[in-house]
Amino acid sequence: MGRLADKIAFITGGASGLGEAIARRYVAEGAHVIIADIDVAGGEALVAQLGAAARFVRLDVSDEASWLAALGTCERLDVLVNNAGITTLGSIEEVTLAQFMHEIDIDVVGVFLGCKHVIRLMREAGGSVINMSSMTGVRAQGNLFAYNAAKAAVTHMTKSCALHFAEQGYPIRCNSVHPGAIHTPIIDKVLAQSSDPEALYASFVATHPIGRLGKPEEIAAIAVYLASDESAFATGAEFRIDGGSTL
Ligand SMILES: NC(=O)c1ccc[n+]([C@@H]2O[C@H](COP(=O)([O-])OP(=O)(O)OC[C@H]3O[C@@H](n4cnc5c(N)ncnc54)[C@H](O)[C@@H]3O)[C@@H](O)[C@H]2O)c1
Repeated sequence: MGRLADKIAFITGGASGLGEAIARRYVAEGAHVIIADIDVAGGEALVAQLGAAARFVRLDVSDEASWLAALGTCERLDVLVNNAGITTLGSIEEVTLAQFMHEIDIDVVGVFLGCKHVIRLMREAGGSVINMSSMTGVRAQGNLFAYNAAKAAVTHMTKSCALHFAEQGYPIRCNSVHPGAIHTPIIDKVLAQSSDPEALYASFVATHPIGRLGKPEEIAAIAVYLASDESAFATGAEFRIDGGSTL
């Protein structure tokens, strides 16, 4: 308890799944959180549960004006978690241009805009940027073409930001987190896109040597470490929390 005392964290996609688990854990560790999401009802319901340590702001991560408005409500920010994302199922033969561009708009443009516009708030006082990539940002899967492209981009954008911040002398760290399959609503949305959801679920389990899917709390734990001063020497790194699936 208290590992994030007095920190202020902005969490995109904070209304559900991993973002929600991170928000709950951050508040338990003493942080103030800003839940930023397109899901207004879900975000406001979570804030009502978290109390005075949380507030909600509507944000569409793919829209620059939305970012400027949302960050404009913050006087100070210590942590940005670029977590909002979607998963498009389909191979290179199946994915349409519209689906590909939608995936890139949210998972790549969203992270680009967050990293770019948070600098103004962090370059003097410092901060930690945590980008949610995926095990598929390290190891490709044939049926996740657009998602593979997006999450690989997040992996490398993170390293480019980390280098730039260090070269400029900005006290901002930037790291990527690579979860294996974690049972959140995103998994249910992917299963709903499949003609054989049971076989797809079994294939998810089979890719994890540890023999199960992960839990949101297991990703929140690394997000606490990266937000805290305990990770002061970590930047540009890939944190794989994936049950061994990239081994
Ligand atoms: N769950 C997994 O197995 C898994 C594995 C690896 C990586 N990830 C990544 O973790 C992140 C969170 O996934 P999750 O499992 O919690 O999914 P989720 O579907 O439960 O939550 C995603 C959240 O993002 C929000 N969102 C979607 N589009 C948005 C937009 N344009 N602007 C703002 N918010 C938007 C949604 O409203 C939702 O609250 C994603 O980036 C995902 O790719 C998840």
